[in-house]
This record gives sequence, C-alpha cells and structure tokens, in this order.
Amino acid sequence: MKVYHDEDIDGSILDDMTVAVLGYGSQGRAQALNMRDSGVNVVLGLREGGNSWKRSKEDGWEPMTHIEAAQKADIVLMLMPDMAQPIVWGEEVSLAMTENKALQFAHGFNIHFGEIKPPENIDVIMVAPKSPGPELRRQYEAGFGVPALVAVHQDASGKALQKALAIAKAIGSARAGVIETTYKNETESDLFGEQAVLCGGVDQLIRRGFKVLTEAGYPPELAYFEVCNELKLIVDLIYTSGIGGMYRAVSDTAKWGGLTIGPKIIGDEVEEKMRTALKAVQDGSFAANWVAESKAGAKKFDELMAECDALEIEKVGKQVRQMSGLEK
Ligand SMILES: NC(=O)c1ccc[n+]([C@@H]2O[C@H](COP(=O)([O-])OP(=O)(O)OC[C@H]3O[C@@H](n4cnc5c(N)ncnc54)[C@H](OP(=O)(O)O)[C@@H]3O)[C@@H](O)[C@H]2O)c1
Ligand SMILES: [Mg+2]
Repeated sequence: MKVYHDEDIDGSILDDMTVAVLGYGSQGRAQALNMRDSGVNVVLGLREGGNSWKRSKEDGWEPMTHIEAAQKADIVLMLMPDMAQPIVWGEEVSLAMTENKALQFAHGFNIHFGEIKPPENIDVIMVAPKSPGPELRRQYEAGFGVPALVAVHQDASGKALQKALAIAKAIGSARAGVIETTYKNETESDLFGEQAVLCGGVDQLIRRGFKVLTEAGYPPELAYFEVCNELKLIVDLIYTSGIGGMYRAVSDTAKWGGLTIGPKIIGDEVEEKMRTALKAVQDGSFAANWVAESKAGAKKFDELMAECDALEIEKVGKQVRQMSGLEK
C-alpha cells in the first residue's frame, strides 16, 4: 500500500488554483480553515441565510452561493451531508463544472452508489480524513494531522491524483500519512466501520452495559464512569500502543477478565451479524434503504435520534461532564 507524507507531495499545483468548500459543518469548517492557514486560495459556498452563513462570517469568511463558489473554483469540495449532495449537485454545482475542473468528496457514497453521475470531462477525486472534523482542526492547530485516504474515480485532466494529494497535504493529513485507495474500498469499509464498530457497535456496548448495571441497582453515576467515561482512556491506550499495549497497562485481573469474558460477550454470532451488515453495504441495499428513508423525510432517523437523547445514560452523562467541567 502506498503511503504519502508531506515530503512526497508537491502541493504547488494549488498555487494558481481556487478551491471551493461547499458546506461549513463538521468537515467543511475544519478543511476550509486548515487550507486557509496552509495558504490555499479558498472560497466558501453555502446556502444563504443558514446557520453556517453566519458562523462562517464570524470566522472571517465572505460566503457566497454554492454555484458562485463552484464557478470561481478549480476544485470543488462537496462537504454538506451525503443525502443533500445529489440535490446541490443537480441544481447548482453541475452547472458550473467546466472541463478539467475537479469535483471532490470526503466520502465515496454518492459516486460509488451512483446517486451523482458526473460528466466525463471533469476529475472526480476523494480526500477522506479518517476523523471527525473538529479533531482534524485540533490536530492541525497542534502542528499535526489526521490520516486521510485519497482516491481517483475519474482523471480527465491527467492531474487528478496530484490535486487530491495537494489538498490532503493542505488540510494537514500528510503530516500523519495519506493512503491511496479506491472509491469502492473507502465507501464500503467506512460504512462497515461506522456501523459495526465505531458508532453503532460502541454505542450499543455502552448503552447495554449501562442498562445491565443500573437495572442491577448500581448508581447511574458509577455505571456511567465504568462503561462510558473510562472507555476513552482504554481507547487512548489502544490508539497509542495497540490492544496488547492496552492489556499491559491494566491490572492482571482486568487482563484475565477481559481476555476470557470478552469473547463470551461478543462471540461468533456477532461476527456473523457483522458479515451480514457488510453484505448489505456491498450489495447496495443499505444505501438504497438510507436514500429512501432520507427522501421520505427521515422520520425514522429523527425518532432514533430522539430515542438516543432520551436515554438515562445521556442525562447522567451530561450531569457528570458538567460537574467535571468537560461540558458547559
Ligand atoms: N462528520 C465527519 O467527521 C466526516 C468524516 C469523514 C467524512 N465525512 C464526509 O464529509 C461530508 C460532509 O459531512 P459532515 O458530517 O461534515 O456534514 P455536516 O456537518 O452535516 O454538514 C453541515 C453543512 O452542510 C450544510 N447543509 C446541510 N443540509 C444542507 C442541504 N440540504 N443543502 C445544502 N447544504 C446543506 C449546512 O448548512 P446550514 O448551516 O445552512 O444548515 C452545513 O454547512 C460527507 O460526505 C461525509 O460523509 C464526514
Ligand atoms: Mg463515514
């Protein structure tokens, strides 16, 4: 696998280019600010009157409409929610994409599953930072970066990869490492990871662990510390020194308990369900289901978020975090 670092990338291709960042949320804000600080000529395209319009002005931007920004730009970054992208593409951005311009995504969903079908005379590239936006910004400000994946779906100009690498460098990711991959591999592995392990898997482990402890009569604050707060410290250990490093830093009792009981909690049946989830990603049925939910008004989506907000662990967690000054 090819890994690029700062010294492997000639970012000068961006010297005579304008980059449009469309969307100013989690990724848009972080990527726009990082690129601006790296000296890239960045313009912001937003919907007029939205929250981002106001917020971006507070950060010193002069936002314009999506289509104006796309007209000015050589590279256009689609950084609004995946389900909003096909509409913004169809109604505005597509009208501004003349030959050899580049259309860039931070996740391959709409290209891989065919929700956006760009014309053949433009580049279609990806720079996908492997972290939430605020962390991308924090790491950049700390002089480091988060790793990113780059991919080329279409190379009309002959310089598609060069453009993607230059952007990855400008957002700080080449300080950590940039890996070249394909739209298919990024899209499918990203969806599987967030469903089975990162977001979905971890959420269910925490909320079920909390439920079991509190139902057995343990105080909710204590349960919160045990199954949620401390998770960060354990994940930090895994992040810096691996699973073995984590085990070596905990007590022998925790090692023995973790190594023998862990597989009884998450066993072969969970692995089998992970395979089912991966299949649904690969055969497009997860994507079709999500697109249909979104087009129908995302009612189920809103219900599930409301259910999450109403969990007891969320209330206790907020109190504990406020007590310790973590949350205002
Ligand atoms: N979140 C992450 O950390 C992360 C990580 C890797 C890749 N990605 C990818 O990055 C892309 C952006 O994701 P994100 O999480 O950064 O998005 P996000 O924070 O949800 O995007 C919010 C931005 O999109 C605008 N927006 C929302 N709905 C819109 C609509 N219907 N039409 C036009 N603009 C709209 C918002 O404007 P208003 O303020 O006007 O509402 C705001 O500027 C996605 O492709 C995602 O898969 C995200
Ligand atoms: Mg994702």
